[in-house]
Amino acid sequence: MGPLYHGAGARRLSIGPGLWFNPAMARMTLKDRWVLVTGASSGLGREIARDVASRHGGNLILVARRGDRLRELADELAGRHNVQARPIAADLSNARDVERVFEDSRAIGPVYGAVLNAGITHFGAHQELPWEGFESLLATNVTATVKFVHHLVPHMLDHDLGGGIMLVTSMTGLVPTPYQTAYSASKAFLTAFGEGLYHELSDQNVSLTTFAPGGIATEMTEKTGLQEVFGNSPQIMEAPRCARLAVDAMVARRYLAVPGLFNQFQLFLPRLGPRKLATGVVAGVYRKAMRKNP
Ligand SMILES: NC(=O)c1ccc[n+]([C@@H]2O[C@H](COP(=O)([O-])OP(=O)(O)OC[C@H]3O[C@@H](n4cnc5c(N)ncnc54)[C@H](OP(=O)(O)O)[C@@H]3O)[C@@H](O)[C@H]2O)c1
Repeated sequence: MGPLYHGAGARRLSIGPGLWFNPAMARMTLKDRWVLVTGASSGLGREIARDVASRHGGNLILVARRGDRLRELADELAGRHNVQARPIAADLSNARDVERVFEDSRAIGPVYGAVLNAGITHFGAHQELPWEGFESLLATNVTATVKFVHHLVPHMLDHDLGGGIMLVTSMTGLVPTPYQTAYSASKAFLTAFGEGLYHELSDQNVSLTTFAPGGIATEMTEKTGLQEVFGNSPQIMEAPRCARLAVDAMVARRYLAVPGLFNQFQLFLPRLGPRKLATGVVAGVYRKAMRKNP
């Protein structure tokens, strides 16, 4: 029988806007256990994998399309931190690949932790996003994530290790974000999904954390031009710092975690006025960035 960490009725203490901490939960212990990280070939996912290995001694199942990068990372983690790391190259916009990744992970595992982090965005007018691009965004951000959860929860319950899943969403899932409209909507889905499941699983032996970062300096922000949105604002976070906060949130089995005081403050502001005003301000910031980076 794994540890009992959050029974129904456990007292929850708010420590910030939208942030919850449950003092009744036992923390996850990643050492020598298998943690699946999707989107591990770059940015936040790669840093999360490094953090799991370096600070927690966890073994890693690394998933993304670029297998060469995953193999390099697996060698790095095994060499530097004496953990086991297995790369699985897969295109998660393809449902069959998601099934294959789960089957391979189950054979390697049991999977104790899962960071469902792979994601893509579209920065620009929604009308400029081709239909195939929208389908790919939805399949990668939403369908693959839900499919993993669908398989992972029974797997984790069967093994009764007291594992945990973390969904990497975004602040754009909490505040609708024009010019990242489809992405923002996909993250809103994941946020609602994660927050709902947290409660459904609250008397079972697996936890569900929703992690909603603001801007992070990664390939996503670089390649799409989103960097312009953040400019020199303190909102843009370095990936290793964000990863550390993400892993802390999962290990502590947090309900919803928004990393960084500046981001938490930004989320608080829209609560003071009408939603339309808040999303209008966001639209203005994005339009300005798009003029600089057409
Ligand atoms: N950067 C930000 O400002 C920011 C803010 C809030 C939330 N986030 C979220 O953080 C997560 C990580 O993003 P990031 O900023 O680290 O971006 P990133 O550097 O572009 O990393 C995205 C990762 O997802 C993988 N990926 C994308 N499409 C995939 C597919 N079809 N199949 C398998 N893997 C796929 C990529 O690997 P391959 O290309 O090798 O497949 C890559 O490893 C995403 O969910 C993103 O929405 C980012």
